[in-house]
Amino acid sequence: MTITVPGRAAFALRRTRPRHFLMCPPTYFDVRYAINPWMDPTFPVDRPLALAQWSALVEAYRAAGHRVDLLDPVPGLPDMVYAANGAFALDGIVLPARFAYAERAPEAPVHAEWHRRNRTGWASPAIAEPVATNEAEGDFAVLSDRILAGHGFRTSRAAHGELAALTGREVISLELVDPRLYHLDVALTVLDDERDHIAYFPDAFSPDSQRRLADCFPDAILATEADAYAFGLNCVSDGRTVFVPAGAAHLRMQIAAAGYRPVSIDLSELAKGGGSVKCCTQELHAFRGVQEVALLAHDTHP
Ligand code: ARG
Repeated sequence: MTITVPGRAAFALRRTRPRHFLMCPPTYFDVRYAINPWMDPTFPVDRPLALAQWSALVEAYRAAGHRVDLLDPVPGLPDMVYAANGAFALDGIVLPARFAYAERAPEAPVHAEWHRRNRTGWASPAIAEPVATNEAEGDFAVLSDRILAGHGFRTSRAAHGELAALTGREVISLELVDPRLYHLDVALTVLDDERDHIAYFPDAFSPDSQRRLADCFPDAILATEADAYAFGLNCVSDGRTVFVPAGAAHLRMQIAAAGYRPVSIDLSELAKGGGSVKCCTQELHAFRGVQEVALLAHDTHP
C-alpha cells in the first residue's frame, strides 16, 4: 500500500479541541474471568506495570491540554479500568451502561453516581435509566451530528433506538461479526469528529454494515487485520493528536499521512483484559459547549 505525504492542506485541516475524560486507575485490575477471547485467567497480570502504563496515558492526555477526572476504583471490580464502558455522556445527557455480563454490572451505578455528583456544567442534567443492554462508549461513537453504534456481542440493537430517542440524533447501527473485535471501539475509531473522518477494519462488520460504512465514509482510513488485532483502532483523537495503541505501526503511518499527529501508547498489560487506549477513556462529550465558552473567556481575558 502506498502512503502519500500529507500536503499543507491536510495539516491545516486538523485542529485540536480540548477534551474532558473520565478514567479509573487499574488499582484492582486483574483477569479473573473470561468474557472476551483475549482474557486468559491462567495468565498472570503485572499490576504495577498496568498502573505505570495507565499513568503514562493520563500524563499524555494532560500534557496535550486535556482534562482528566478520576473515578475511584472499587475492590472486586477488576475491569473498572475500562472506563469507556461505564456510561455515555453527550450534550447534558448521561446514559449509564447496562452491562451484558453480570461480572461488570456493579460498575454501572458507580458511573451513574459520579455523573450525578459532577454535573456542574449543566442546568438540568438528565441521567437516563437504561432499558436495553448497552456498553456505552465501547459501542457508541460520536460524530458531528450522528452517532455510530455497534451491536452483535455486547450492546443490543434496542439500545440504539433508546440512544436516538434520548439524544435526538441519528444513530447508524453497525453489526459486529468478529468475536475478537467485540466492541465498536476496537473495530472503528473517529479521528475527526467535526468532519466525520474515521478509520475502521472492514472485516469486523457484516456485509451490510460494510456497505453502509463505505457509502457514508468514502474517505475513511481502512485498517489492516494485524493493526486491528493489535487494538490499533482503540485510539483516542482530539482532532489533531491521536493516541494510538503501540504495535499498530501501519495504522500510525496512515494516520500521519492524513495530517494527524499520532502518539504511540503502550498499554500491553491492559491488552490482557481485552482493551487499550479508548477502552480506558470515557469522553464527556457533555462538557464540550462549556469548555468552548471557558476557552473563549480565557482568550479574551488572558
Ligand atoms: N474485559 C473487558 C470486557 O470484556 C474489556 C472491555 C474493553 N472495553 C472497551 N471499550 N472495548 O468487558
